Amino acid sequence: MQNRRDFIKKSCSACLGIAGMGLITSQLSGCAPMPIFKSETKLKIIEVPLNLFNDEKKMIIVRNKQVCFDILLIKISDIKYNAIEMKCSHQDNSLTVTKTGLFCSSHGSTFDLEGNVTMEPALEPLKKFKTEINNSFAKIFI
Ligand code: FES
Repeated sequence: MQNRRDFIKKSCSACLGIAGMGLITSQLSGCAPMPIFKSETKLKIIEVPLNLFNDEKKMIIVRNKQVCFDILLIKISDIKYNAIEMKCSHQDNSLTVTKTGLFCSSHGSTFDLEGNVTMEPALEPLKKFKTEINNSFAKIFI
């Protein structure tokens, strides 16, 4: 009985240690919080002000109730923006943004900033929405 208690005690300590390392790792890889632009429009075009972007801030999460998943809007150049649905093409899990693309925590698929698969098990690219730059807005056609 004593051996079983010792085993559980040691196992729990090891788990806490691993959990602690995970926390430290995520803090070290340290991402600043991704800005979220919430749009209330009921139109099929979401307009995102371009002044939300700058040299350091090239990605914004766009949220609108008409779309089930958030959209990652990425500034590629002054005239090109990518709008990618943050829904994994493998089994519809929501995705996490990294510096170089998107990551799925369900089974580990990764995607680049064009929505292409960079690591399976996902095989299909992510859905992209048409975008257009107009005056001081990026328009996303949902
Ligand atoms: S649901 Fe994203 S990799 Fe499986």
